[in-house]
Amino acid sequence: MNCALILKTSMAEVIFGTQNINSSNIRLCEIAWNKGIRSYDTALAYNNLNHLNNFFKNLQDRSSYRIISKITKGHIEYEGVRKSILKILQKLNNQDYIDTLLIHAPKGVDHIKVLNELEELRQDGLIKKYGVSNYTIKHLRSLKNSNIKLDVLQNEIHPFLQESELVNYCNRENINVMAHSGYAHGLVFKNPRIKKVANLLNVTISELILSWHLSRKISPIFFSSDSNHIKNTDYSKISKISPQFFEDISGLNTNLRICDNPEWSEF
Ligand SMILES: NC(=O)c1ccc[n+]([C@@H]2O[C@H](COP(=O)([O-])OP(=O)(O)OC[C@H]3O[C@@H](n4cnc5c(N)ncnc54)[C@H](OP(=O)(O)O)[C@@H]3O)[C@@H](O)[C@H]2O)c1
Repeated sequence: MNCALILKTSMAEVIFGTQNINSSNIRLCEIAWNKGIRSYDTALAYNNLNHLNNFFKNLQDRSSYRIISKITKGHIEYEGVRKSILKILQKLNNQDYIDTLLIHAPKGVDHIKVLNELEELRQDGLIKKYGVSNYTIKHLRSLKNSNIKLDVLQNEIHPFLQESELVNYCNRENINVMAHSGYAHGLVFKNPRIKKVANLLNVTISELILSWHLSRKISPIFFSSDSNHIKNTDYSKISKISPQFFEDISGLNTNLRICDNPEWSEF
C-alpha cells in the first residue's frame, strides 16, 4: 500500500518538523520521506535551510512534496516580506515557490499589511497558500472582520492542549489547522492512559497520536531525532483506528501550553 496516500486525508496530513535538523541529522528527512511523508515544516528562524537544501535538491518532481515555511517580525522589519521570501527560495536552491508561508508569531506584527503582501506574493506565484502561527481565536476573528481569508493556522496542539474552540472555529471557516509540537515534546509517550489505549489497540503511541490529530482534521507536525522512532511507525495503521478509542485521549486536556514565549506570543 502507498504510505503517502494513507498519510493524507482530504483535509489533513502528517508533516515532518525540521526545527532541529542540522548537517549531521539531515538523513532523517529522507527516512521520513521513505515512510511516506511528503510535507516538511521549515522556518527562516531555524537557520538550517542550507542543510535542508541538500535534501530537497535530490527530489525530482516539485509537485510531489510540500514546503511550509515561516517568517518572523524580525525578518519582516529587517528585510521586508518579499525579500524574506525570496531569501527562503534562494536558500532552497532557487525553488520556484513555497507551498505555505506563515507569519511565525503575532507579537508586534502589522498583521493586515503583511497578509496583504502575502496575498500579492500568492498572485505572483511565489507562494501557494498563506496563514499564521501561534495566533489566538481573538486574532483570527479580528482578521476575518478585516476581510482577510487565511488558508492555514499552525499552533501548538496535542492531547494536553486540545484547543477545541479554536479548532472548531477553523473548521467552520475552512482554515486548515496544523499542530506544532504534536507529540507535546515527547510527553505523550510517558502518559499511562495513552500507553493503555495504544496497547489495547496494538498500535504504537506515535500511530495513535497521529491518528487522533487526523481524526480532528488537523495536520500533525512531528519530529524525532531517533531514526528508529520514524522507521517503527507503521503508517498503514493510521486511519484504521476507530474514533471511539479517541475518547480517552479527549479527556486528557489540561490546557498545558509548552511553547509560551511572551517575547513573541500573545496567549
Ligand atoms: N510554529 C512554531 O512556533 C513551532 C514551535 C515549535 C515547533 N514547531 C514545529 O513542530 C515540529 C515538532 O516539534 P517538537 O520537536 O518541538 O515536538 P514534538 O514533535 O511534539 O516532540 C518531539 C519529541 O518526541 C519524541 N518522539 C518522537 N517520536 C517518538 C517515538 N516514536 N517514541 C518516543 N519518543 C518520540 C522525540 O524524541 P526522540 O528524538 O528521541 O525521538 C522528541 O523528544 C518542529 O520541528 C517544528 O517544525 C513549530
